[in-house]
Amino acid sequence: MSSSSTNKKLLNWVDDMTALCQPDNVVWCDGSDAEWQAMWELMLDSGTAIKLNEDKRPNSYLVRSDPADVARVEERTFICSEKEQDAGPTNNWANPVEMQHTLKGLFSGCMKGRTLYVIPFSMGPIGSDIAQIGVELTDSPYVVTNMHIMARVGQAVLDALGDDGDFVPCLHSVGLPLEQGQHDAAWPCNPDNRYIVHYPESREIWSFGSGYGGNALLGKKCFALRIASSMARDEGWLAEHMLILKLTNPEGDVKYIAGAFPSACGKTNLAMLKPTILGWKVETIGDDICWMKFGEDGQLYAINPEAGFFGVAPGTSMGSNANAMLTMKENSIFTNVALTDDGDVWWEGMTDEAPANLTDWKGNAWTPESEHSAAHGNARFTTHAAQCPVIADEWNDPKGVPISAILMGGRRASVIPLVTEATDWNHGTFFGTFVASEMTAAAAGKIGQLRRDPMAMLPFCGYNMADYWGHWLQMAEKENAKMPNIYYVNWFRKNEAGKFMWPGFGENSRVLKWIFERCSGTADAVETAIGNMPTLDDIGFSEMGLAEDDIANLMHVDVDGWLSELDGIEAYYATFGEHLPVKLTEQVNQLREKLQGSKQNVA
Ligand code: OXD
Ligand code: MN
Repeated sequence: MSSSSTNKKLLNWVDDMTALCQPDNVVWCDGSDAEWQAMWELMLDSGTAIKLNEDKRPNSYLVRSDPADVARVEERTFICSEKEQDAGPTNNWANPVEMQHTLKGLFSGCMKGRTLYVIPFSMGPIGSDIAQIGVELTDSPYVVTNMHIMARVGQAVLDALGDDGDFVPCLHSVGLPLEQGQHDAAWPCNPDNRYIVHYPESREIWSFGSGYGGNALLGKKCFALRIASSMARDEGWLAEHMLILKLTNPEGDVKYIAGAFPSACGKTNLAMLKPTILGWKVETIGDDICWMKFGEDGQLYAINPEAGFFGVAPGTSMGSNANAMLTMKENSIFTNVALTDDGDVWWEGMTDEAPANLTDWKGNAWTPESEHSAAHGNARFTTHAAQCPVIADEWNDPKGVPISAILMGGRRASVIPLVTEATDWNHGTFFGTFVASEMTAAAAGKIGQLRRDPMAMLPFCGYNMADYWGHWLQMAEKENAKMPNIYYVNWFRKNEAGKFMWPGFGENSRVLKWIFERCSGTADAVETAIGNMPTLDDIGFSEMGLAEDDIANLMHVDVDGWLSELDGIEAYYATFGEHLPVKLTEQVNQLREKLQGSKQNVA
């Protein structure tokens, strides 16, 4: 198909990249069903995909990746700002000129024997003031089909772009050119030569060698977080690694809540939660990314820039997240899950008992006696947000939804209570800077070791993390700004026996209810050294049947624990040198004084 774009920048760029990559063909994608079917025909022929049983999982496919290409590769992800300090100590910086030289070499002729697909996509409802346009060039039909689900793709995007609209150029190649007659790999990739490269100043993305997830679906982590965070700083908005949910109380009043949690902390589950408290309703706006801009009324309005969910499959079940299971019942892509004998999918945690026979994610026969898991730990489903049974009507609203509260949280076995409200925006920003998650048992010998993941943006912030904190602080200085309340939550406290003290999942609605009522001004709070906390009645602990000790610990301000946490925060802050905003040092000092004061009061 030829282009129906008249955008000079786009046409010139496609010409230049075609000359560089030397594909056999160029195809402009329209996002249609016919295109979806054509891509799958290609992938069925090449052995990339297996069609699932049409009666069980209509219009859905299983794809197995190369075992060396199964996840995001943070160590091969680069930020090429002109100055190294603008990437900051948490990013891999590379000299942009040298990197450009390396990439030109790698991309030269890299699409020989393949087709270059031009995918115009919108992150967010087309035409929304908060949305942005990108164009991905890729030689992977798998990427084309995933982009159909994850973004708005096709002619309407080119129409919105017009003659002179701007877009983020996203170039992707699996990095495996084919000689004439050469047999293609089922999952072409080049794992020894992976480069996921971002130029925040010129707003470009170049990705080479991987066909998987966030490395290859460039609208997601690369554009909607790394490049967008840098655009947001320049333009006065926020691009965040957050879910967005709509919460309705029994009277029918609505609040919208965003939440930043590191990977593997249950964002998708929280976004689709089934409340255990009577009369309350949660609906989903987004499960991973949130873009927020000020409206004229001074509130932050948020959109989910994505159109689908690229969720981790293992652990997802009708018990843990029925809404996600129902979303992916058709028109979905499954990557690196196991295949059942009747042509459907399975993964660990989907059912209490594993089927007697499966084909594992590598294509080998598997039984429950097998020593390895049937699905890869990072196996994924790609599925349409619009198919989610609890998708909120306004998920597609170009205006976005006004955010009343922002949650922050990670996995913390100790110290951090169930929920704490920040006293103001600066205090809440401070909360965000010290978000951390404890390593799980999977990393032998490292249990309890903390990985700081500020605002859950560690792998995704496209510039210096401390400057990003400065940007957060500055947002509240805008005239007329009505900033959301901020809450630190921790669903993962453990008792001395190593058991989770809080049941999580649907019971998290108790915490959401208190937050909702704080935002409406109808719930009380207890002031503590670390912030405002609910009373036991606010959470309704008495109805929950939890152990007294566990309740006390979930709500306890562990003064010594916090004092040593502060030492850790200060050591972390020191790594940012003079980029660290003074307001954060003030927060540390204030908290230390308050903690010491409360220690003396107790004494
Ligand atoms: C994701 C992640 O895949 O955060 O969403 O890693
Ligand atoms: Mn994520």
